[in-house]
Amino acid sequence: MSRSGKVTVVGAGFYGSTTALRLAEYDIFNTVVLTDILEGKSEGLALDMNQSRAIEGFETKIVGATTTAEGAGYEATANSDVVVITAGLPRKPGMSRMDLIGVNAGIVRGVAENIAKHSPKAVIIVVSNPLDEMTALTQLATNFPHNQVMGQAGMLDTARFTNFVAEKLAVPVGSVKTLTLGSHGETMVPVPSHCTVNGKPLTSLLSEADIADLVERTRNGGAEVVALLKTGSAYYAPSAAAARMAKAVIEDSGEIMPVCAWVDGQYGIQGVYLGVEAKIGRSGIKEVVETKLTASEVDALKVAAEAVRAKQSDVKDL
Ligand code: 2OP
Repeated sequence: MSRSGKVTVVGAGFYGSTTALRLAEYDIFNTVVLTDILEGKSEGLALDMNQSRAIEGFETKIVGATTTAEGAGYEATANSDVVVITAGLPRKPGMSRMDLIGVNAGIVRGVAENIAKHSPKAVIIVVSNPLDEMTALTQLATNFPHNQVMGQAGMLDTARFTNFVAEKLAVPVGSVKTLTLGSHGETMVPVPSHCTVNGKPLTSLLSEADIADLVERTRNGGAEVVALLKTGSAYYAPSAAAARMAKAVIEDSGEIMPVCAWVDGQYGIQGVYLGVEAKIGRSGIKEVVETKLTASEVDALKVAAEAVRAKQSDVKDL
């Protein structure tokens, strides 16, 4: 097994720590660094994860580091190849992701500036909410090229959609293909025209009303988990999505994934971070892949683009 590179996960809450463990268990990185502002938390989690290596059979070393908003402790993250930013508060029941924008903007900006100082070549994967806005803010705060900064959302939303379709039809998840584009929020655009089960169009297997229900459940997928947990938000599916993206980067896999990427011209949309399909590799976003959509799906994507554009232009002042 050949290992290479260093990945940092910022924030050792459930999302961050689960992402770090998934990345370590892939056994493809030399080092996974996990940071947090709570003194000792990431060191303790790293110690615990390292002790699982002998049982699970992986060699990647996990390093915990306490960091401060002023930038202390970030030396441990230096020269990371990939950075996953999970820092910030999660939602509470009844909150929208957008309710977090004020508090999380301050946290994410500080993290992004410190990461840029220590790892100028890193590809950054943002998962903090509101996702599309925090991704745009990270690019502004780092001044990195747009391809070097992306957000995790489409992978998660698509996985939720796939799971709901598989449960509804009582088929294996592996036989279902779905797609969601647009924002990670109100203007999410699940794309039924790209959904298939064993190669058959979803529209031939379920009624319009059933598909509409699944689309709505997907759009509210995060809130449904938050309402049940009562404290905190989802992290198993979100961490799986973020970890797969980091893996695609370090392996330069060229996989096409639905992610939050800088869109400039595709679908007739200019200059905005938005959920689209993109080819992922060592440089981050190698290419936004324009897929064939129906006219109404393109319209919905344009509505999503304008909704997130308005908010993304606000973040520069937060
Ligand atoms: C979710 O949808 C955390 O935004 C993430 O669960």
